[in-house]
Amino acid sequence: MSENIRVAIDGPSGAGKSTLARSVAARLNFLYVDTGAIYRTIGYAVWRKGIDPRDRSAVVAVLPDLEICLTYGTDGLQHMELNGMDVTAEIRLPEVSRYASLVSAYPEVRAYLLEMQRQLARENSVVMDGRDIGTVVLPDAEVKVFLTASAEERARRRMLELEERGTPEPYAAILRAIQERDWNDTHRDAAPLRQAEDAVLLDTTALDFVQSEDALLHIIRERTGL
Ligand code: DC
Repeated sequence: MSENIRVAIDGPSGAGKSTLARSVAARLNFLYVDTGAIYRTIGYAVWRKGIDPRDRSAVVAVLPDLEICLTYGTDGLQHMELNGMDVTAEIRLPEVSRYASLVSAYPEVRAYLLEMQRQLARENSVVMDGRDIGTVVLPDAEVKVFLTASAEERARRRMLELEERGTPEPYAAILRAIQERDWNDTHRDAAPLRQAEDAVLLDTTALDFVQSEDALLHIIRERTGL
């Protein structure tokens, strides 16, 4: 049995998974794996190649041409490389979010990435976040958390984040995009977003960052004895 500890964090987009997972991983000295970034890298590749993300066979046909690498900078941050090019910034474009949500629905895309994710968890203690980590990727994870917040609160946080970045967008448009992605992520046949039966539910709608982080650490410590 592996001695590495696996913390699986799933939940809808904008629930604060990445920020919380990254911070908690740093405190525990675990590797943080943002699996959404891997799906985004495929979404980005499809977008750059001008492929219609709704054309399943065209998307699947491009997979063998993609060399996707996860690297960690000296800053400890996860970087994504696509065929040797750092695409860490590009994969955050709003259009890429939509592409990632669509291409991640294809079972071939999910199968293509499964082993990569499992290998990272075999080689390291991880905090891995995504949509199907506790249900599909690491069903035996020592800790499973389903992290969520209301769609309205997630849209509000996203709006503030975009304002801070100097790229504001109207609240209604942000909320609509979040609702659309929620629908796509929960209604697809392949590994839909759902709470694993043995996952602890953490709803951060009424919690600030520090409170959410404390709650998450508490769950991890309780389950692992760390
Ligand atoms: O977490 P994120 O918003 O960066 O994820 C981008 C897209 O990838 C999202 O629409 C759902 C998908 N995704 C997935 O299907 N499975 C994962 N484990 C992680 C992300």
